[in-house]
Amino acid sequence: MPSVHVNDVDIAYDDNNQESDGPPIMLVHGFPLDRRMWEPQIEALSDEFRIITPDLRGHGESQVTPGPYTMDLLADDLKGLLDALGIPKVVLGGFSMGGYVVFSFYRKYPERVNSLMLLDTRPQPDSEDAQKGREDMAQLAEREGASPIAERLIPRLLSPNTVANRQDVVDTVTTMITQCPVEGIAGDLRGMALRGDSSDLLPKINVPTLIIVGDQDAITPPAESHSMAAIIPNTKLVEVSDAGHISNLENPDEFNHAIHDFLHVH
Ligand code: MLT
Repeated sequence: MPSVHVNDVDIAYDDNNQESDGPPIMLVHGFPLDRRMWEPQIEALSDEFRIITPDLRGHGESQVTPGPYTMDLLADDLKGLLDALGIPKVVLGGFSMGGYVVFSFYRKYPERVNSLMLLDTRPQPDSEDAQKGREDMAQLAEREGASPIAERLIPRLLSPNTVANRQDVVDTVTTMITQCPVEGIAGDLRGMALRGDSSDLLPKINVPTLIIVGDQDAITPPAESHSMAAIIPNTKLVEVSDAGHISNLENPDEFNHAIHDFLHVH
């Protein structure tokens, strides 16, 4: 597994099909997951495209640092990774919290972005209640570890059908959450609570943008994706059927198809 030291942290990543002629794609995972969430996309798309999947700090095989992990800090880590790889511009995709990081990245470094993929995410910041919930969850993780976090999150991250009938997906997600360092979980939660509003950015996005959302996404519901699509100038929205929040794992065929079509047009 390659890693680079950037922005005072060791960032682990995979870099598939470096020989591809097309624009490189970077996919950013969500909370509290890691780069393994992108396995179905790498399998389906990396014959044709270069796909870079980092572990954000505090996740997977990247170094753990004290939190909070602000979205700007995580965006700077990704910029450092692109610099280290000598990549001037990417197709930048972010899932959920990864999408919050993508908004920060695009605000700071628009010249590094070819096109955007906003995957089961939203631009709004947390309400006061949500911020309080983040702190409660961070303290729960610090007291009791990652297992109760997995128990709480699984029914929200996955559709009822996935939870009942797709034990493989439940196991994959549970493994990522329970292996996430507690400092990483708390760092994300406190960082997400601090994030600002990215809504003002939407009408200014001047690169092609793909929005994907699971039709049963309970965390970033489809209505929020439709609202984003109405504001971002050059955008396409795909609602993935039979999928909750983690639509790329719950219905990879439709998800990959949407990305494949988007990459071929842009
Ligand atoms: C994620 O999937 O990254 C998180 O659930 C996002 C959030 O809690 O806002």
